Amino acid sequence: MKSMCPQAIVLPLAFFCTSLFADPASLQVPNESQRDHFVSMLLKKMTLDEKIGQLRLISVGPDTPKSTIKQMIEKGQVGAIFNTVTRPDIRVMQDQVMQLSRLKIPLFFAYDVVHGQRTIFPIPLGLAASWDTQAVATVGRISALEAAQDGLNMTWAPMVDVSHEPRWGRSSEGFGEDTYLTSIMGKTMVEAMQGKSPADRNSVMTSVKHFALYGAVEGGREYNSVDMSPQQMFQHYLPPYQTALQVGSGGVMVSLNSINGIPATANHWLLTDLLRHQWHFKGITVSDHGAIKELINHGVASDPADAVRVAIKAGIDMSMSDQYYSQYLPGLVKSGAVSEAEVDNAARHVLNVKYDMGLFRDAYSHLGPAGSDPQDTNAEDRLHRVQAREVAAQSLVLLKNWQQILPLKKQGTIALIGPLADSQRDIMGSWSAAGVAKQSVTLLQGMGEAVANKATLLYARGSNITDNPKVQAFLNLYEPALVVDKRSPQQLREEAIATAKKADIVVMAVGESQGMAHEASSRSDIRLPKAQRDLITAIKATGKPLVLVLMNGRALDITQQDQQAEGILETWFSGTEGGHAISDVLFGDVNPSGKLPVTFPRSVGQLPLYYNHLPTGRPYDFTHPNKYTSHYFDINNSPLYPFGFGLSYTTFSLSPITLSATGSSQGVTTASVTVTNRGKRAGGTIVQLYLHDPVASISRPVKELKAFQKVQLQPGESKKVRFTLSKQDLGFWNQQMKWGVEPGEFEVLIGTDSVHTETKSFNYP
Ligand code: NOJ
Repeated sequence: MKSMCPQAIVLPLAFFCTSLFADPASLQVPNESQRDHFVSMLLKKMTLDEKIGQLRLISVGPDTPKSTIKQMIEKGQVGAIFNTVTRPDIRVMQDQVMQLSRLKIPLFFAYDVVHGQRTIFPIPLGLAASWDTQAVATVGRISALEAAQDGLNMTWAPMVDVSHEPRWGRSSEGFGEDTYLTSIMGKTMVEAMQGKSPADRNSVMTSVKHFALYGAVEGGREYNSVDMSPQQMFQHYLPPYQTALQVGSGGVMVSLNSINGIPATANHWLLTDLLRHQWHFKGITVSDHGAIKELINHGVASDPADAVRVAIKAGIDMSMSDQYYSQYLPGLVKSGAVSEAEVDNAARHVLNVKYDMGLFRDAYSHLGPAGSDPQDTNAEDRLHRVQAREVAAQSLVLLKNWQQILPLKKQGTIALIGPLADSQRDIMGSWSAAGVAKQSVTLLQGMGEAVANKATLLYARGSNITDNPKVQAFLNLYEPALVVDKRSPQQLREEAIATAKKADIVVMAVGESQGMAHEASSRSDIRLPKAQRDLITAIKATGKPLVLVLMNGRALDITQQDQQAEGILETWFSGTEGGHAISDVLFGDVNPSGKLPVTFPRSVGQLPLYYNHLPTGRPYDFTHPNKYTSHYFDINNSPLYPFGFGLSYTTFSLSPITLSATGSSQGVTTASVTVTNRGKRAGGTIVQLYLHDPVASISRPVKELKAFQKVQLQPGESKKVRFTLSKQDLGFWNQQMKWGVEPGEFEVLIGTDSVHTETKSFNYP
């Protein structure tokens, strides 16, 4: 696997890679032999039960109340805790370890800090849409700082599951459909969150997830199985995990799916042969919630003891949220079904990461002295609002801007309509950690502040997010997460129509609720819910110019709305400062520069639809339609909006590509283009480089992203962008699963999206 920095992205990332973060090598544990010696000595002092205790990871809750945990700590029966997120709560447990347990092995504390801890940034899909590594590094550093300041040592992030499946609710948590973009974003997160060392006061250890291929669940149905060729696996799905580990992620969370018939949790090839022997991973593997128990349902274990045997032999170190390891490992060791060496091996990995977290040096390293805890955990001054607003604005993607309806003018009367316009909770998105909904800024608030004294802003809710009672019940299963206005759909709509009629222009905030794009939230229909589609149609009928602000956590089918609205801004779930950031872009205080990290289909029936697909033997050509070619007879093959697409309030042009002579010392070749800002506003865009290998021993994708660069230009300004391609960029896994470069012609495609590109070919070698 190549180093992502130097070859692929020249500037400014090269600067960013070398100066803001330490060399990846130094992110590895500086003194492994010291650590190994320390851990070996400690293991010698431990009883079998104490070693097994280290493998247990639990959450404080109804099944394991604080009193039970205290007893477990006393007996050395717990290794780590997750879901406890304040310093006082964490301190109590660490104190118990220090005061009551025999060996005083500190606990580590983990949480799902995915896109912020207290300050919530855009969901990862939105972060990917920024294509801005500096923005993502800011998110990583602030999230780690806030988490560490809350006493946490580990985060269950980043999620680098490449996914071609918008039906899958968790596509919101990943960085989209592309391998390279996901690898870069995951790497940036790991480096930023772990800093020089996860032991530092303001760093946390990352746990990359979900290993592996979770994003490829069949049909996008959560927890479903995955069946995939080894070429596809190694070429497109595994690189982001490997990259995250190469830059030092200390943890790996194992996925819940099976891979070619073997659940990841039971997969010796995945967890031991590949992860440990080929990739030399020394940190911990953690099973996902209840995954060991689920091996029985998968049909690879006959009973709980068998599930434990299979999991530990495959390479699961820590078991999350079940008692199986503690209950069955002692007996399995006694009977010889599991060796004590296997338990030692797993316990060693847990102790390794505790060492790397600095916990043996100071169990309170992320807690500080007693009495130093913040008086108010949710205090305003603990938030990083300025950075959240800036990053959120970078993540927005302008999809449509007919006759420059945007930016809006701060004058006249503007109607803001829609069930997401004033929802503090939904705008934070899923996995919003310890974020407090009351602290988030809605679009209503953001626009209100922007136009104060300059224009009139009217508001009407217009509809509920969904009127489907089954979906409402699903979303409110565990808590009243979905606000449902009791007025009838007709009453809500009539109020909205009357509001629209009073305005010069209408902005509608529509999309999904937080819970619709989450774990266990797969959808078979990825359109806007009917209540909102009907509302948009009704507002359209007023004849007022219409701008849609989409809030959602997946690629949606917005084919109908694309024909109705003059302007469309994709805002994902943009976080604590979302309302300010969206309004900054709507009013042109910030020029949008985001690009889609996923393909937007015309219909769910086209799925899976992704830009880097293989060619077919019978390609469809719409200029010469032929029945016996690869297409649907009832819909175009093309997406509604392609991968990498996004508009700006200015326009950019690209010069033809210049290629340097092949075989230079710098790499295979250097591709350059000049980008010019042709409009009247300063703005940024993402220059994207794709590669195509037209003839090889196996079919190669029609194009693959290999590099990108964000460029900021004043009106009329031009800049030359250079990309150096390496041998790594040209290679692939062949039929015999050998990685290599096959000589011949290669095509370089450069554009500001994946479709409209300049092209040039070269031969290698
Ligand atoms: C289950 C989810 O699959 C995983 O992503 C998460 O980290 C754990 N629960 C812990 O919350």
